[in-house]
Amino acid sequence: MAPKNYYDFYQRSIKDPVNFWQEQAALIHWFEPPKEILSKDEDDLYRWYKGGKLNTAYLALDYHVENGKGDQQALIYDSPVTGQQKTYTYSQLLHEVEMVAGMLKQLGVNKGDRVIIYMPMIPETAFAMLACARIGAIHSVVFGGFAAHELAVRIDDAQPKVLLTASGGKEIDKIIPYKPVVDNAIEKAEYKVEKVVVLQREFAKADMQTGRDIDWIELHQASQPETYVIVDANDPLYILYTSGTTGKPKGVIRENGGHAVAMKYSMKYVYGASEEDVYWAGSDYGWVVGHSYIVYGPLIHGCTTILFEGKPIGTPDAGAFWRIIDEYKVNIFFTAPTAFRAIRKVDPNAELFKKYDISSLKRQFLAGERCDVSTLEWLQDLLKVPVIDHWWQTESGSPMIAQMTGIEMYAVKPGSSGKAVAGYEFDILDESGNPLGPNEEGALVIKYPLPPGALPNLWQDTDRFKASYLAPFPGYYFSGDGAYIDEEGYIFITGRIDDVINVAGHRLSTSDFEEIVASHPAVSECAVVGMADSYKGQIPLGMVVLKSGSTISQEELSKELISMVRAQVGAVASFKNVIIVNRLPKTRSGKILRKTLRAIADEKDYQVPSTIEDGSVLGEIEEYMEEFRENR
Ligand code: COA
Ligand code: AMP
Repeated sequence: MAPKNYYDFYQRSIKDPVNFWQEQAALIHWFEPPKEILSKDEDDLYRWYKGGKLNTAYLALDYHVENGKGDQQALIYDSPVTGQQKTYTYSQLLHEVEMVAGMLKQLGVNKGDRVIIYMPMIPETAFAMLACARIGAIHSVVFGGFAAHELAVRIDDAQPKVLLTASGGKEIDKIIPYKPVVDNAIEKAEYKVEKVVVLQREFAKADMQTGRDIDWIELHQASQPETYVIVDANDPLYILYTSGTTGKPKGVIRENGGHAVAMKYSMKYVYGASEEDVYWAGSDYGWVVGHSYIVYGPLIHGCTTILFEGKPIGTPDAGAFWRIIDEYKVNIFFTAPTAFRAIRKVDPNAELFKKYDISSLKRQFLAGERCDVSTLEWLQDLLKVPVIDHWWQTESGSPMIAQMTGIEMYAVKPGSSGKAVAGYEFDILDESGNPLGPNEEGALVIKYPLPPGALPNLWQDTDRFKASYLAPFPGYYFSGDGAYIDEEGYIFITGRIDDVINVAGHRLSTSDFEEIVASHPAVSECAVVGMADSYKGQIPLGMVVLKSGSTISQEELSKELISMVRAQVGAVASFKNVIIVNRLPKTRSGKILRKTLRAIADEKDYQVPSTIEDGSVLGEIEEYMEEFRENR
């Protein structure tokens, strides 16, 4: 039954979730249908589609080939940084994936084994992800902008049988060698990776370690195509690590069954994509957007997906996005607002835009960070198609607040990410868990269980899953974001209310930075908070108290801390601002008042906490911030 309107569709999803999600399950091909739509596991956590049998790579590839779409373009690779353009039809992509699946099999990778993928924006990364899905192995893609320490932490947690990498990537014209990072990470990790497969790219030759490292091409030549295995709906497809409020990232688990349904459902109803559309997510494989909407979503839906190895600016200019839309007749485009802020900064009058024909574009989606009204309006004027902000997280794997454009559209309210996606029931709660009324700001929570596709648990850390997401507000999933909902059901996200920050659409943990900053010999204590930035959305700011007797200068300390964070987290941290302060605001029990510091850094109104040990410190911090802003 085709949905009639958003309201009815939404109401049904909330009133009768089991039948609703049973109907949605029929959107995909199962080898055996689920035996139970919703059930509870031994940890008392909800699971969807127990007993269902499927294969995600089959749905993304074989299914289309078997249904006559073998010659349709599946993946278009456009790489301004290497000057390459390449297209794969569904049949060709299937063959490539079968071959990489064969390579993994040759290395003894079996169903349930983990494979870490630390690779740039090249087609082989997609082949590798789909190859894992094909043989039931669990991939964990690590963003190429992370340094060795971050990779090592993920190696220790995922314990991969094999690590796949390439010799390097290119950031505009800068070569980023990947292999030394891998070598360093393996050395740092306690878990020893036995096999590393290296794809040599011509601009970056990697040194190979005999006995451990295997050349991708040689292995490919020695391998046979591998068919798919049938997996259970509740078998994990991938683990994607994301920043939490401690230095240790959270391993978000994505299960095959719920994920496949969520991909088809969101492509159809949220993005309103037809099965022939050209869909482009301008993101990176290392983030959830790359997983869901460069690889799985568009392919499961039968679209053509675009893989862009370039940047919004500098590859070669701020017209790159418009060129891609024109050249490949992109119908639906999705990227982070920061990318458009970058374009607008260098080409404010959109002169380069005028060179291209973007008439194929039907809708523009934005997510990953708050979309400022100015960028939204600039885009609306320029593109003359609906510009749709939508909100979701690594944890959900697909949109939670969005226009369901495949059903019906409603007016955009600038500053709002839209209304709830069917299946998601939101509430706004105060700190004690009491529901708040319309337009009152509080913690954004979602009735538990979350719909299919959202995380069922964290990788080998059920206690942390329960403590982070379920314990703060019983009966709900806690999103970590603050928000308010207006009388018409529009949700306005006001930003994270925990220690997670969002730098140019990259999710990072300030606690991770704090551990590094605190390890400097001159530092007595510190707090790192996110500060609003008109270009990157947020940037980290370190407030540091020196050990008594330390004579290090502000300049010297900043230089050392910046390079320490860069070496351990990666360049992507954009940690560039440090101020030395006399003392930090604390509670009487000695806890640093981060929330208050965040408000001061962002020049927001705040209430002096009743628990503060000495309120006069807040005036001092305000003065430091004023001086810092003047000198920026
Ligand atoms: N591998 C290695 N290094 C990387 C990297 C990668 N995959 N991605 C970023 N970096 C490096 C950059 O080279 C840069 O290094 P530098 O400090 O030596 O110059 C640093 O990390 C910061 O990068 P970035 O945050 O990308 O800032 P930028 O100023 O180079 O570019 C934007 C700004 C807005 C163009 C860019 O951040 C962007 O395209 N953002 C979109 C984000 C996105 O897609 N988010 C996904 C959610 S939808
Ligand atoms: P990630 O898990 O990396 O996708 O980051 C998710 C976080 O990014 C959310 O919890 C929000 O804080 C932020 N975010 C994502 N999309 C939006 C949006 N449209 N508006 C505001 N914040 C967003």
